Formats: sequence, C-alpha cells, structure tokens
Amino acid sequence: MTTRRTRIAGTGHYVPDRVVTNDELEAVMDTSDEWIRERTGIRERRFTDSETTCTDLGVAAARRALDEAGWSEKDVQFIIFATLSPDMYFPGNGVLLQSKLGLPGIGALDVRNQCTGFLYGLSAADAYIRTGMYDRILLVGSERHSVGLRMDDRGRDTAVLFGDGAGAVCVEVTDGVDGSFIIRHHLHADGRYADELCIRSPGAGTRPWLTREMVDDGSSHPYMNGREVFRNAVKRFPEVILEALESEGYTPENVDAVIPHQANQRITDAVAKRLGLPPEKVISNIEYYGNTTAASIPIALSEVVKAGTVKRGSLVCLAAFGSGFTWASSLLRY
Ligand code: COA
Repeated sequence: MTTRRTRIAGTGHYVPDRVVTNDELEAVMDTSDEWIRERTGIRERRFTDSETTCTDLGVAAARRALDEAGWSEKDVQFIIFATLSPDMYFPGNGVLLQSKLGLPGIGALDVRNQCTGFLYGLSAADAYIRTGMYDRILLVGSERHSVGLRMDDRGRDTAVLFGDGAGAVCVEVTDGVDGSFIIRHHLHADGRYADELCIRSPGAGTRPWLTREMVDDGSSHPYMNGREVFRNAVKRFPEVILEALESEGYTPENVDAVIPHQANQRITDAVAKRLGLPPEKVISNIEYYGNTTAASIPIALSEVVKAGTVKRGSLVCLAAFGSGFTWASSLLRY
C-alpha cells in the first residue's frame, strides 16, 4: 500500500418510531405549526420511548453501518462516540456502546463537540487510520434530546427545534486508488461564545453542581441565544465549506453534495444561496427529524447514500456549526 488513506466503508442510521408533529407541541406550549415551519422548516421530529437511551439509538445505527460495510462487530478496532446527551454524566457512551456490541477491550473515545461532534470524530478517526494506529473504526453520532427539553412555554424557543436519532459510519484504511477517500478536515472553535448555546447544569463549574433552584430556573435545560447562533451560523457555514473547497482548488460547482448539520432550514437556504448552489445539492431532511445535533450529518449521509444521491467517488462536503461555538468541514470522495 503506497499511501494510507481513509474511506467511509458503510453508513447507517436509526430514528425512533414515534413521530411528534408540531401540532403535538402546540398542545403543551404556546407555539404553532405555522411559526415552527416558517422559522425552522421543521414539520415533525422523532422522540424515543421511555426505555430507549442515546446509546441504544447508537447501537441500532451502528449495526446498520456494519451491515452496509460488510463488517462484523469483531472487525471494529476502535469506537468514537459523539453526543451531547449521554446516558450518564460519566462514563461516556463510547464504553456503553462497546459493551452493548460485545467488544470488551477495544478503545472507546467520547467526543463532546455538540453539532460538530461527528466531524471532530471523523477527523480523529481519519488521523488514527492514516498514522497506522488502526485500520477500522466505528464512529457514531447519537442524541436523545427529548428527555432534556423544557416542554412548556419557557422552553418553546429550543424545544421545538430538537429531535432524537442516530447515525454511524464505518471508517477504514484504503489506498484510495478506487477514488473513494477522505480528503481533509478543517476544525474551528471560538469559546468566547460558550454561553450562547449551552446547558449550564449540572456542571462542576458550580458548587454544588445541581440544586433545586437550578432545575426550577431552567438551567438544566438548553439555553440558546437564537439570533446570535443564527448570525454566526450563516457566516461560518459558507466560510468553512469554501475553506475546504479552496484548499483543494475546487469551487462550489465541483461539489456533488454539501451535507450541512441540520440546524434550521433558513440557515441551510442561506448557505446554498451564498455558495450559489441549487437546493438539491445542499442536503436537507430537517423537515422530518428536526435538529439531531451530532447525529444529523451521519443520518443525512446515510439517507443520501441509500437513495443513490451520493455514490462512490462523489465529491461531498460535510459541514457543521453549533455550540461552543464550533464549526468544521470534512471534504471527501465518497
Ligand atoms: N413558538 C412561537 N413563538 C416563539 C417560539 C415558538 N416556539 N419561540 C420563540 N418565539 C417567539 C419569541 O418569544 C419572540 O417573541 P417576542 O417578539 O414577543 O419577543 C418571537 O417568537 C421572535 O423570536 P426571535 O428569537 O426573534 O425569532 P427568530 O426569527 O430569531 O427565530 C429561531 C428564532 C430560534 C428559529 C432562530 O433564531 C434560529 O433559527 N436560530 C438558530 C437556531 C439554531 O440553529 N440552533 C441550533 C444551532 S446548531
């Protein structure tokens, strides 16, 4: 093998069966289907039942990715799990997934980069493989938002946005001669914006880390400065996509598909417009799932692979922006 490169060998996704429409949210908080659709493009999202955890969603997506890649569980040498809604404060979901897949002994890494978690995870998998540390890595992005949302009037600005689901990819070594390989990643963060999109409690930054008052005042639910997030997202998404393309001498016309983190349809539309791309090249499924944070890119990728929209050799740019703020892109030949 001349050059060690990395490719995505298989994709998989899983969303819970339970569909939650905007009308259902309207029944528990002061909102409307019209407001949600106009401002976000979301019509419905999926919520788990009372038993299914974030790791369970991840396991289901992982098994589908393994099938598509033609791997058995035993082929997995390392696990990376990206989520902001882990089953426990610690340990992380990586070891829980490892146990549920029956793979004791292999390493498991947890990524906490929220909406960009999948891309930070993909960049780590790519680096581990290129340097020869591993040949086959399972990367999962999964979220169970439904248990953490504030389902009343005070939570309406965030509760209507998020949904549950998981996506996974099997990442393996290749020499790239068949034209299927990851090209490069660009990772960014600006922690000055940490307070603009966060869950403040529980956290060891306060003493005690969780009180009755924190629960009552809503700081254990997501807080978002929607306008600030929007303003930064419409700037950073195009910036990081163009950074990826220009670093390889490409222009937007060369791209077969841009798969953005599914934050908001208005953000996705603004990105398409800024890049001069037709809407069909900028993948969107937010209408059906809402924002699934670390899961949104691998769910969308899995869907377009299965639909045949993205084929082997397609030039694909994955891009994300979110809490931190963090933003990132991964450019690849699928
Ligand atoms: N239903 C009805 N009204 C709502 C509402 C809801 N679910 N949530 C907020 N509102 C109200 C607000 O209270 C405000 O009322 P007011 O004018 O009486 O104060 C009004 O709608 C407008 O709120 P505003 O925040 O100005 O709306 P907006 O046009 O900025 O849209 C978002 C709100 C959240 C849709 C928008 O800011 C956004 O998309 N931000 C980015 C979100 C995102 O992508 N987050 C994830 C990042 S990864």
